[in-house]
Amino acid sequence: MMYLERSLDFDTGKRVTDNSISSRDYDSFRTFLEEACGIVLGDNKHYLVSSRLSRLMREFELKSVGDLIERMKREPRSGLRERIVDAMTTNETFWFRDNHPYELLKNYVYPELAKKRPAQIKIWSAACSSGQEPYSISIITQEYMMTRPGSLSNNVQIVGTDISPTMLDLSRAATYDSLALSRGLSPERKSRFFKDVGNGAWQVNDDIRARVRFAEINLMNSYASLGKFDIIFCRNVLIYFSAELKIDILRRLSQSLNPGGFLFLGSTETLASYSDAFETVRHGGGTVYRLKGK
Ligand SMILES: C[S@@+](CC[C@H](N)C(=O)[O-])C[C@H]1O[C@@H](n2cnc3c(N)ncnc32)[C@H](O)[C@@H]1O
Repeated sequence: MMYLERSLDFDTGKRVTDNSISSRDYDSFRTFLEEACGIVLGDNKHYLVSSRLSRLMREFELKSVGDLIERMKREPRSGLRERIVDAMTTNETFWFRDNHPYELLKNYVYPELAKKRPAQIKIWSAACSSGQEPYSISIITQEYMMTRPGSLSNNVQIVGTDISPTMLDLSRAATYDSLALSRGLSPERKSRFFKDVGNGAWQVNDDIRARVRFAEINLMNSYASLGKFDIIFCRNVLIYFSAELKIDILRRLSQSLNPGGFLFLGSTETLASYSDAFETVRHGGGTVYRLKGK
């Protein structure tokens, strides 16, 4: 069966009808994508696949998704595989997403960690997209330190990781346009923690950026090289994975936490039956998971 989708060409704005994808191509693409990055596509995402890959197909002058996969297999070192995965990821994110995790970090997790007086605090923003999550964490950290000076180690290190090199480049640039800035960022925080760099764009201030570094990590692979963390944010990414992969990733995330460490998931995600390594802490309307054992 062939699915035909009418859509607008990205560059010319003209109607095009070459977004076709056969059932066979779709099935082999689904298998490839799940093996490459864990993302499970439903039965009817033909349009999503063809629209997200249309730019690459034009660039390589290919007529079908099948041809694209063939080309990728023929030229394993061309970087096409990575670009296909990059094109297929959903990068939706915004500042202080859902608010609760950040309030919980400030009002519960930091005071709890402060009791132990650790010399440093390490935080991992796994699947950080374009950087709003790790920079929101850094801003909250700054606010916490300003209101309770001396209560927390000055050495807070935040690592943002993602599978997408494009998102990591945006994260490192730390420069956001007016649309991105309008999503979740208050005018007070914008004027306090960002500088105007012209053309409507603002860049995160150096002191907020200094705590944050970025690395490319596919959550399907090992992350032992990152060491252990006190807090992990793994938000709005597990939803794309199969139950088996969720179980495996949650097990390895638990191994990446120090005893008593904290895990934040997205507001629609839960540990459910995927892991029993954590206890649930509810505070101020939010939820965080604490690794069992002291
Ligand atoms: C919807 S965004 C979530 C961003 C942020 N955590 C938030 O909650 O706002 C999902 C991110 O997961 C990344 N991602 C998808 N599959 C991944 C994988 N296998 N390993 C690491 N990151 C992945 C995507 O590139 C994307 O940036």
